[in-house]
Amino acid sequence: MDNGMCSAEARSANGFDPEMIHDWLSEEDPERLVFLWRMADRVRREQVGKSVHLRGLVEISNHCIRNCRYCGLRAGIPGRTRYRMRDDEILACVQEAVQRGMGTVVLQAGEDPGLDRERVAGLVRRIKKETKLAVTLSLGERSLEDLRAWRRAGADRYLLRFETSSPELYQQIHPPRTQGAPDRMEILGWLKDLGYEVGSGVMVGIPGQTREDLAGDLALFRKLDLDMIGLGPFIPHPKTPLGAHDAQVATLIDQVPASADMACTALALARLLCPLSNIPATTALATLDGTPGLEQGLRSGANVIMPDLTPIHYRRLYEIYPSRVRPGEGCAEPHEKILSLIRAMGRTPGRGCGDSLAWMARTGMK
Ligand code: 5AD
Ligand code: SF4
Repeated sequence: MDNGMCSAEARSANGFDPEMIHDWLSEEDPERLVFLWRMADRVRREQVGKSVHLRGLVEISNHCIRNCRYCGLRAGIPGRTRYRMRDDEILACVQEAVQRGMGTVVLQAGEDPGLDRERVAGLVRRIKKETKLAVTLSLGERSLEDLRAWRRAGADRYLLRFETSSPELYQQIHPPRTQGAPDRMEILGWLKDLGYEVGSGVMVGIPGQTREDLAGDLALFRKLDLDMIGLGPFIPHPKTPLGAHDAQVATLIDQVPASADMACTALALARLLCPLSNIPATTALATLDGTPGLEQGLRSGANVIMPDLTPIHYRRLYEIYPSRVRPGEGCAEPHEKILSLIRAMGRTPGRGCGDSLAWMARTGMK
């Protein structure tokens, strides 16, 4: 180790020392940051190998009953055209995932009661019957009965970000919860009990997030023993309450910047703390910084990419944050670009479903 960092320091990061995590999140020396990202890349290589698993993302509905103060799909946003894809449209995207050699399809939506239990269960059953794909659901906070029915129908994985480990920050960025409603931690517990591979995560640089908060999030990833971890930079959406956030950021001491570098530092620390988890280089990272963002994520501990297979006319409407679709962007060439990037980095596109080794270690399956 060549830049003043001893191996005890590396071990300590691996063994989780909250103060050191905070120090790393405060680090500004570019050389030391590169050192951290490389260390995470090495742990990624040793623990989960050189495969980059491709998950085909299908954004099946942009309806949402929630009002998260940062999100462009929030119920209260003015003028949003809403859509819900038909089964045949969704299944066409699923076939595209198969044709492109992907091992997993991710069905994602806002929290949409219109996607009822039976409809989603039927869809999952069909995908599992007609393909060999793993099915990941990302449909928000749903009832235990829904989650159980979907697991029985064959769903393999579920993504539900807890968004922040700080109760105070959670309250600042979300409207008050209905009394007695289960919180995300409880739902994450159900998902685990139901045998799903469980994914969670946070945004990096949401207004009001301190380095201490983010260090707490990273500690919680480890405590929850997550199978998948999603971490991306916060990207302000001007039509949301947290969209015009510059003034708040300027006044907050210890505010986490919403930069690609900070997101990669958090990603690297997540890899060191949870070596066996599947960790994507997220769409938000690519949105902020294009292909270099994806590449930087893959060099900082990520081993997953989630190419978007949603038809372009719907994708434009799935505007969690602005600029998710660049002018003229189609479907085919980004996929080729991603494959070339993976190969140019000396990595290989993942084969099979790419189950989380953390989940396999936890459950002794598959
Ligand atoms: N910037 C970045 N990520 C966001 N999300 C929601 N809004 C934003 C934003 N403005 C993330 C949240 C949510 C997921 C669907 O997208 O973490 O869980
Ligand atoms: Fe809805 Fe999810 Fe956006 Fe919240 S973050 S408003 S639950 S889509």
